[in-house]
Amino acid sequence: MFDIDNLLRKNILALTPYSSARDEFKGKAEIFLDANENSFGSPLNTLSFFGEGQGERFNRYPDPMQLELKEKISQIKGVPSENIFLGNGSDEAIDILYRAFCNPGKDSVILTPPTYGMYEVSANINDVFVKRVPLTTNFQLDVEAIANVVNENTKLIFLCSPNNPTGNSLDREDIEMILNNFDGIVVVDEAYINYSRQRSFIPDLVDYPNLVVLQTLSKAWGLAGLRIGMAFASADIISVFNKVKPPYNISEATQKIAFKALDNIQQINSWIKEAVVEREKLSAALKQIPLILEIFPSDANFLLVKVKEPKWVYDYLLGRGIVVRDRSKVLLCDGCLRITVGTPQENLQLIDDLRNYKA
Ligand SMILES: Cc1ncc(COP(=O)(O)O)c(C=O)c1O
Repeated sequence: MFDIDNLLRKNILALTPYSSARDEFKGKAEIFLDANENSFGSPLNTLSFFGEGQGERFNRYPDPMQLELKEKISQIKGVPSENIFLGNGSDEAIDILYRAFCNPGKDSVILTPPTYGMYEVSANINDVFVKRVPLTTNFQLDVEAIANVVNENTKLIFLCSPNNPTGNSLDREDIEMILNNFDGIVVVDEAYINYSRQRSFIPDLVDYPNLVVLQTLSKAWGLAGLRIGMAFASADIISVFNKVKPPYNISEATQKIAFKALDNIQQINSWIKEAVVEREKLSAALKQIPLILEIFPSDANFLLVKVKEPKWVYDYLLGRGIVVRDRSKVLLCDGCLRITVGTPQENLQLIDDLRNYKA
């Protein structure tokens, strides 16, 4: 049985979180003398980005709970705001999960390599023991092997779907099997879900109190520089995130810009369609190049590609001004490069350069 109080570290269960000036005051006021800000303003010209007359003033602390931004995300995702946490990138959400649920030097996490590298780095930072259960050769979960390594100190399982760096989606039934049988937290990282035909696990939150879904504004939403990651979970789990996070973890500038950007959903949807079309075109063109040994099916905005002489190809492309990711030393990714889908012009240049590669 999933029991969040039992799962949490005792110090987090007992924690009284920091209460900021902006938490304590709610209501309307004209004069803010509660937070030791600079009451005079910010040393910025009144620029027009946020609208005429609004200027760029950042002398006030931002909303610690990002309520307006969450309300907009809530409408887009169809999830109540109380089920949303916003972090300084998904990486902040990943780190908070370890800090809240895993006792350093005692508890463990299950990871399924090859997968997103930060799960392991963050575990190492937090002194959490990593149990690795590799994906099968067709990049799917080995559910039985996962079940075999769970013990009472296993607090988290990270599953990435579509998976980075392989690009494929994990079988839904496998994820459901784990959600149904594991009493710790199951994190389903959907950073690339917009490029996939798979259904998100967000609607399943009502059925699984142990589910955390991660998404991000860094990929399809085109806002990697802003650093906004989203965690969707039960209100109980979200209140744990809110307890542990730094009080003002999303800056005022970030909140304002993201709020504006989220209005442009049509632009995002058209870029997603274009990226998917480009992905398939790129895949077809790469297939014609003898240097390319294998192209793995992708549900994401990148392709995992097996090549002859990966290191030389990597260096050659770099010499041509194109940087890809060398994943050739990663488990199950022998000889592989990971290539992000670029603009049509960038993809044409990549294909052209690869055609001209001489061993
Ligand atoms: C699977 C996956 N999750 C999370 C992230 C990080 O996202 P963010 O920019 O929100 O920290 C990445 C970035 O590459 C990723 O590949």
